[in-house]
Amino acid sequence: MNTSKFLNVILAVAIVLLAVKIVFYSHKERNIVETDTAQVVIENIMTRTSIRAYTDKAVSDSDIETLLKAAMAAPTARNQQPWAFVVIKNQAIKDSISANINPMQMVRKAPVAIAVCGNLDKALSGAGVDYWIQDASAATENLLLAAHGMGLGAVWCGVYPIEQRVDFVKQLLDLPANLVPLNVIAIGYPDEDPAPKDKWKPENVMYKN
Ligand SMILES: Cc1cc2nc3c(=O)[nH]c(=O)nc-3n(C[C@H](O)[C@H](O)[C@H](O)COP(=O)(O)O)c2cc1C
Repeated sequence: MNTSKFLNVILAVAIVLLAVKIVFYSHKERNIVETDTAQVVIENIMTRTSIRAYTDKAVSDSDIETLLKAAMAAPTARNQQPWAFVVIKNQAIKDSISANINPMQMVRKAPVAIAVCGNLDKALSGAGVDYWIQDASAATENLLLAAHGMGLGAVWCGVYPIEQRVDFVKQLLDLPANLVPLNVIAIGYPDEDPAPKDKWKPENVMYKN
């Protein structure tokens, strides 16, 4: 083999080795990132817990918008997005909610509360008519998880289907007939640090292998 052929073979081997290295390391790096992200996401889900005491620190408008974007990223039946969100900062309204609905005492001290409503004008008709409840619930859980991930604390306060609460919140927020309040979420910076509840119960799972 002459010198030029020999150099060509060396060059070809070097290129192949470089290509293998690039593929191997880029795959490895991507896996590390994917593993880290998965751990962070699962950790956020597992450590979320209802927070009912808040500091006086205000929640910024941009953080509120992030929470709303997270809520609206939820899945909905046939992608109807049959919801509306009422952002409540007004102290008189928050006071009235706490004064009239006993399990919602924390709303009074929350810097902001968000009422998640079903929009019946956008809800499915026929057999899927009640899917709006699941859609708005998915949005609520997204919002709770986003709040936790952002260092905020929040609690889901149920309204629908308790008729008395629905009527009261509808009137207080001056909602049009097509909007049904599913809940009021109280949100603020945590002033308590309760341990997340361990709810893992294998007996609740059935397998059909
Ligand atoms: C439909 C629904 C209604 C709820 N209503 C209230 C409420 O009115 N007041 C309250 O303090 N917590 C309320 N919660 C929060 C639950 O009490 C809480 O999620 C449950 O005890 C589990 O605790 P965790 O959120 O810390 O895991 C409600 C939760 C759901 C899903």
